[in-house]
Amino acid sequence: MAKYRIAWLPGDGVGNDVMDAARLVLDALGLDAEYPHGDIGWEIWRHEGDPLPQRTLKLLGETDCALFGAITSKPKEEADEELDPELRGKGYVYFSPIVRLRQELNLHTNIRPCTGYPGNPLNYKDGIDLIVFRENSEGLYSGIEFYPLPQKLRDAYSDHPKMERFARFANEDIAISTRLMTREGCERIVRNAFEYAKKFNRRSVTVVDKPNVLRETGGLMVRTARKVAKDYPNIPLWETNIDAQCMWLVKNPLDYDILVAENMFGDIISDLAAQLVGGLGFAASGNIGDNYAVFEPTHGSAPKYAGQYKVNPMAMLLTAKMMLDWLGEKDKADRLEAAIARVIAEGKVRTYDMGGSNTSLDVANAVVKYVIE
Ligand code: IPM
Ligand code: MG
Repeated sequence: MAKYRIAWLPGDGVGNDVMDAARLVLDALGLDAEYPHGDIGWEIWRHEGDPLPQRTLKLLGETDCALFGAITSKPKEEADEELDPELRGKGYVYFSPIVRLRQELNLHTNIRPCTGYPGNPLNYKDGIDLIVFRENSEGLYSGIEFYPLPQKLRDAYSDHPKMERFARFANEDIAISTRLMTREGCERIVRNAFEYAKKFNRRSVTVVDKPNVLRETGGLMVRTARKVAKDYPNIPLWETNIDAQCMWLVKNPLDYDILVAENMFGDIISDLAAQLVGGLGFAASGNIGDNYAVFEPTHGSAPKYAGQYKVNPMAMLLTAKMMLDWLGEKDKADRLEAAIARVIAEGKVRTYDMGGSNTSLDVANAVVKYVIE
């Protein structure tokens, strides 16, 4: 029996291409693992009315962790239209399977490192080294949404003075998405950010929210962060607003180190941070829970490139590196990262986004060469 069982979830579009690239590298590293395949994504939705079927959840329960490629996510109406005709009108509702995975498996901590590897022509500036800790299980992504506004809720809200301005609108003309945040969720994500900062000697932790306007949820986040920070007297806590932080990241990206935010703001800031170090082709991430984790590159499924082995697999390879670290395979993780850094620095094998014409698999093979050296 292999040492690890890793659920293999290519998903949609280029997910498959980059997963093939990852496999070349994992095999070259000699990781003692088996990779049972799991169905997830758009095609499964179209034919079964559920993009994350029970059998896949069961598989995850029988594995150590999962590696995930990419997923196509579309708004509700478009998802309905693409469902097989015989499934339409039967009450199937599309909800992003990756968001579901994060919530159903309580993968509360999304870690998104954004490292500007030397020699990457896409680096915005040299020396950028950011890590986004994104709360992954609550916030605006909770999925507690209403349209039309149920009368019961309307009644409950009616005491709120700010509701007065909306009194003239019918329930059918109001939609609500709830930003639900808990003290536990805020504390956990901030503590995980500080623990990481302590372990890896990072310079600072910046909590990013908008407490001047979102006074209750943002306020809870910032107050909780201040309290947690007291346990880490050697690591400064900075507090910023999401809008200003976006500007400052572009202006002074070297000033920041670890950024911690609730789900939606973490989503936004992690795309921005990724672009500073070469774009989504370099953005790795790990959805980490207490006993399970799903590793995924941040990029989407880029359907127009599906099957062409054109996209940059670096994000996926860096994601595999995160997985190796999480499994405790530090030596393999370090070897992989060093090989990736070397391929980037040499600049000989590059996908189109970096100005080259190599395939995803060419890049993986270039990494393999240094991994086995
Ligand atoms: C991400 C993506 C997802 C998200 C989408 C695909 C649902 O943007 O992982 O950042 O919003 O979390
Ligand atoms: Mg995103």
